[in-house]
Amino acid sequence: MSSTQPPVSGLVPCSTVLLTASAYARQDAMTATAIFISEEPPILSVSVAKHILTHYLIGESGEFVANLAAGDQLELARQLGSTHGTEVDKIEHFNVPVEIGEKVAAPRIQGSYASLECRVLNSYDAGDFVVYFAEVLASSVDPSKVPLVWHQGRYYPLENPVA
Ligand SMILES: Cc1cc2nc3c(=O)[nH]c(=O)nc-3n(C[C@H](O)[C@H](O)[C@H](O)COP(=O)(O)O)c2cc1C
Repeated sequence: MSSTQPPVSGLVPCSTVLLTASAYARQDAMTATAIFISEEPPILSVSVAKHILTHYLIGESGEFVANLAAGDQLELARQLGSTHGTEVDKIEHFNVPVEIGEKVAAPRIQGSYASLECRVLNSYDAGDFVVYFAEVLASSVDPSKVPLVWHQGRYYPLENPVA
């Protein structure tokens, strides 16, 4: 095994998720990753750092939207992952196109591959992070788009299946 291997977090190819949350008359959007836990009922999990605004908004509202970034949302993923909602209203500052969700107060991001509206079922304290397990209450997908994958600090539009 190589002695210069990247950190474990960089080894696992991840979904690129634009996570939105809303509470205290504030909203925020951040870049994150998500994985599916079960299909029936549809449950997914996200891991959110305790010190960031999104964590407080999800903690208060018990809701979020996991907007799965599309292949052409690379710049937005970078912007939302490198700025903090405590310093700037990212949705306004980056002109993020949003629309009201069906089931939760957090906004959907237009142009995403898919938007999954989620309600938190429970959470797990993981040191600097909280892992939220959430049920998907409503979802939409744009089949004309492809999802964006993040691996070792690089982004890949999920194209050209081999099987
Ligand atoms: C590709 C990518 C994935 C990320 N995944 C996570 C994640 O799963 N959990 C997390 O807390 N931060 C993650 N981050 C970092 C947050 O997006 C970053 O700290 C952001 O500024 C937090 O926004 P906020 O302070 O407005 O809540 C990720 C960043 C990138 C670029």
